[in-house]
Amino acid sequence: MKTIGVLTSGGDAPGMNAAVRAVVRTCCANNIKVFAIKRGYAGLISGQLEQADVNSVSDILYKGGTALGSARCKEFQSEDGMQKAIETCRKNGIEGLVVIGGDGSFRGASALSERGLPCVGVPATIDNDIACSDYTIGYDTCLNTVMDMVDKISDTAKSHDRCTVVEVMGRDAGFLTLNAGIAVGATAIVVPEIKVHVKEHIISHIENSREKGKKHFIIMIAEGVGGVEALAEYIEEKTGIESRASILGHVQRGGSPTVRDRVLASEMGYSAVKLLMQGMGNRVVAIKKDEIVNYDIYEALNMKKTIDQAFYNMAHEISI
Ligand code: F6P
Repeated sequence: MKTIGVLTSGGDAPGMNAAVRAVVRTCCANNIKVFAIKRGYAGLISGQLEQADVNSVSDILYKGGTALGSARCKEFQSEDGMQKAIETCRKNGIEGLVVIGGDGSFRGASALSERGLPCVGVPATIDNDIACSDYTIGYDTCLNTVMDMVDKISDTAKSHDRCTVVEVMGRDAGFLTLNAGIAVGATAIVVPEIKVHVKEHIISHIENSREKGKKHFIIMIAEGVGGVEALAEYIEEKTGIESRASILGHVQRGGSPTVRDRVLASEMGYSAVKLLMQGMGNRVVAIKKDEIVNYDIYEALNMKKTIDQAFYNMAHEISI
């Protein structure tokens, strides 16, 4: 393999830059020409790319967002779009592609692999919803951001003896909500994976806590459950506790990556290039039990990641 392309796609995640840097530096160390593709698959279609070298990825390791830009590209979902992307690769001599993103991006990578362009996916999403990997790039940073923000919300909730219902990102997944909820000592946590009667669940946990002397409450709700404004109103009406809703929003996706995300991104970016060097395509890099491994993309996309009921129960048993 003489020339590789790298792109970031889908929702950005802290640590994407560290992964791009690792891809570019690994290519340079192995005398492989490398192209940085701008704005994900959109840039691949329109030919927005430039050759990268060791210096072009200096000073991005610690930065949030993605210096390459990212996009959710509709055009790429059509055969015409994919053929344009393949044509860009052909014109520039790109023989393999590293796709840094989430499952939507991997579906694109697998479609390109099928059409003769070997691709390797690197899981980067704050949602941690890539089933083949214990962790995704950006998840740890986001968890810490959510924890910091909710700690601050707790300060003011405590001062006013209030209840705050917090909505955490994660699309259809509740990993961020549950783990951040444990880290902040939430009174109740609601995630899409664990079916509960939302209103009853929350009120019973608040009443339980109140009986034990608690006066302020944090309720963590996953984006996939939603409805925080209505829930805050309901809680106030049912319990008489003054309540507020807080949707954390896109601040969760920003910020300088943590050590864990920088190291993970570096390992995964490096490993993706090594796979392409061995002639392997249609693979996803992953981390399992602290070891970097890889899976067939189809296999990876068909895996399911669930929330452990015992872990969820533990969160509620230790919160009063
Ligand atoms: O996948 C990451 C994520 O931040 C989800 O948690 C959220 O549902 C979605 O992206 C938001 O996407 P957008 O930034 O396109 O609105």
